[in-house]
Amino acid sequence: KSSIISLSEITNFQSKEEEFSPYRWYRSMLNQEPVIYNEETDSWHVFRYDLVKTVLNDHEHFSSVRKRSIVNVGYSSEEKGADSEHHMPDKLDIHNVDPPEHRKRRSLLASAFTPRSLKLWEPRIEAVAEELIREFEGQSEVDIVEAFTSMFPVIIMSDLLGIPSKDRHLFKDWVDTMFMPTTDATFDQINEMKKIAGEEYFKYLYPFVVSKRSNLGEDIISDLIQVELDGEHFTDEEIVRTTMFILGAGIETTSNLLANSFYALLYDQPELYAELRDNLELVPAAVEEMLRYRFHISKMDRMVKEDNDLLGVKLKKGDAIVAWMSAANMDENMFEDPFTLNVHRSNNNKQLAFGFGTHFCLGAPLARLEAKIVLTAFLKTFTSIEPLQGFNLEENLIPSAAGQSLTSLPMKLYK
Ligand code: HEM
Repeated sequence: KSSIISLSEITNFQSKEEEFSPYRWYRSMLNQEPVIYNEETDSWHVFRYDLVKTVLNDHEHFSSVRKRSIVNVGYSSEEKGADSEHHMPDKLDIHNVDPPEHRKRRSLLASAFTPRSLKLWEPRIEAVAEELIREFEGQSEVDIVEAFTSMFPVIIMSDLLGIPSKDRHLFKDWVDTMFMPTTDATFDQINEMKKIAGEEYFKYLYPFVVSKRSNLGEDIISDLIQVELDGEHFTDEEIVRTTMFILGAGIETTSNLLANSFYALLYDQPELYAELRDNLELVPAAVEEMLRYRFHISKMDRMVKEDNDLLGVKLKKGDAIVAWMSAANMDENMFEDPFTLNVHRSNNNKQLAFGFGTHFCLGAPLARLEAKIVLTAFLKTFTSIEPLQGFNLEENLIPSAAGQSLTSLPMKLYK
């Protein structure tokens, strides 16, 4: 039995475009039996809002300690990037553990994502957004993916880690190679490139962490250096590995959210831009609605820990189960008229793109803040944005392990 659960055998999408807007498939899955067994991959699948929440949060029955897993970009840096001789020390792995161990590891990492840090970071994130937008000066057309959404989260993370801005581009190259999807190379070539990038990243960051110890500042590395819980601290190497984990979890996801939000403003609901411009207070709700409606690649797997029939079918210990959060976000028992993008729905902050419960995304406040700042900066700078005639969606998507990501999105800008 393969250790990877291949989701393409389950979704069977006929085109990249269909996968990019998988609403029809979600609708049909939501209309079927609440729990579906897929024979080819020997795995269970849930789509309904209530069931997805149960699978994500009931760690007594649905464990994050897995024998088989869906491929997922973003949450595991262990086999990506980092050189393979170094395994992620147990203390750092929070993605593949259950409570009670999980609680302690999570609180160690959470020290880097406190509300206080967010407040401090807000002006820095705004400054980066404004800086990138200034580069559009005089341009009436821009590829927003190339010039902005693929850059922004990585620049923010390098800034928040305390990397000097002169080294941003080095940093971006390593991170792109370690974590971004690519198709113009073979599997072995990609692995080799990732390994080299991971080594170079390590060589750069390790001495940086060491020197930070005597030169603490307002950055994530300094926070990680100072964390202490029950007498435990992170070593320098653990800090480097932790940053890799954070980058794996936080860059591609946030880039996708931003790119897809622009897509939605251009194609799903072109009148929304003007409405948001008139009412910037609506932006946080718009971000939630983008996460609900346009972040279509959110799903997470668990392993059944104890035989149970909590979902209405007999599940056996060791069974693999996939919770489709993006489908749950289309559940009409939770969201009225779910297949419509509606920034005014009152409960769009109940969307599950960041997961739910025990493993709820630690970076959610940061991702939300980044998206709010970016949209607000655009709305304040440009009176309108428009799609470019002749844009071919199918040709501008790339399979990422998590779904389909935009590789470019040209648009017109009006001052
Ligand atoms: C966990 C989604 C951005 C760090 C998760 C999980 C999801 C998720 C679904 C839960 C995994 C599970 O249940 O097993 C997202 C989305 C993002 C985003 C949709 C952006 C739109 C970020 C950012 C960071 C981050 C920016 C950090 C800078 C983490 C960490 C965890 C996590 C550390 C593990 C939490 C745990 O296991 O306790 N994320 N994420 N994420 N995310 Fe995010």
